[in-house]
Amino acid sequence: MMREKIESLRDELKDLHPESLEALEEIRIKYLSKKGKVTALFNDFKNLSPEDKKKLGAKINQLKDEFAKFIADTKSRLEASQTKKTSHLDLTRTAADIPLGTRHPLNIVRDEIIDIFGRLGFSIAEGPEIEDDWHVFGALNFPEDHPARDMQDTFFISHTPQIVLRTHTSSVQTRVMESTKPPIRIICPGRVYRNEAVSARAHCFFHQVEALYVDGGVSFADLKQVLMQFAREMFGEDTNIRLRPSYFPFTEPSAEMDISCKICGGTGCSFCKHTGWVEILGCGMVDPAVFDSCGIDSHEYTGYALGMGIERITNLKYRVSDLRLFSENDLNFLKQFVAAQ
Ligand code: DAH
Repeated sequence: MMREKIESLRDELKDLHPESLEALEEIRIKYLSKKGKVTALFNDFKNLSPEDKKKLGAKINQLKDEFAKFIADTKSRLEASQTKKTSHLDLTRTAADIPLGTRHPLNIVRDEIIDIFGRLGFSIAEGPEIEDDWHVFGALNFPEDHPARDMQDTFFISHTPQIVLRTHTSSVQTRVMESTKPPIRIICPGRVYRNEAVSARAHCFFHQVEALYVDGGVSFADLKQVLMQFAREMFGEDTNIRLRPSYFPFTEPSAEMDISCKICGGTGCSFCKHTGWVEILGCGMVDPAVFDSCGIDSHEYTGYALGMGIERITNLKYRVSDLRLFSENDLNFLKQFVAAQ
């Protein structure tokens, strides 16, 4: 009996082919643990006759050693192949490149505008995007019934008191003039909001840069000089400018500035509607009524202001004609601006 058991366990051993350490551990438990099949032989051994004990003792021990050796050998083989599987991990290799992000085209252009005005002595001023009616309209001489105050054009946060999303960065002018004594020489970049249906040519938010210079004896000639300087630095030395009379509640006189079309060079194309000129900003001399509202003596000081849309300038520089691209975070669009930095 005992002899047969030993032989059949030896046969079983030959048929064992565990492929994982877990399977091997199951085998160890099945044969060599306290309740294992090989261990059981030792228990049976006690009941054998002294003669059989002599004959079979060595054989049982030998079988146990065979199992133990099989388990030890298989274990080291499986462990070795497991490290082989992960050995493609070369920890000495340099890390894979992390692709660099690119700057947003609007930020590139905004920084360029800031840089040009910075060299002309303008420093940056900022104000809140959620503003009261006074800073956006009232102090800037907008009459009560001005269409910009209409719900159609302006996003209202509350009606009493009237709190709005600012529709232009001219609101920062108001804040700075209220709190600072001239000379004032600032530019105010920022986001503005208007209640427009989103399309290729209009968006409910966009970006502006405002500039304001207030001091004794500031003239329209000073304004024109800065406009010319800006246009040539931004669009190239061969750029011409043209000022057309216009109207804004907060400037008098007011003007709009065109630059010679960058696309056709001024000869006329569909971009400039065959006029050779493209409008890029509004400007003018600060209306004395605005100084009065902000507590600046309009007899002592004069000033000029100008405001432009960053999207418009970006469109001219990079021919991005669909405004929606600026806020869609499409990587294929954004990646194109890597060389421009
Ligand atoms: N605030 C005007 C707008 O949003 C732009 C503007 C025009 C700003 C003339 C100015 C200015 O400072 O003088 O359309």
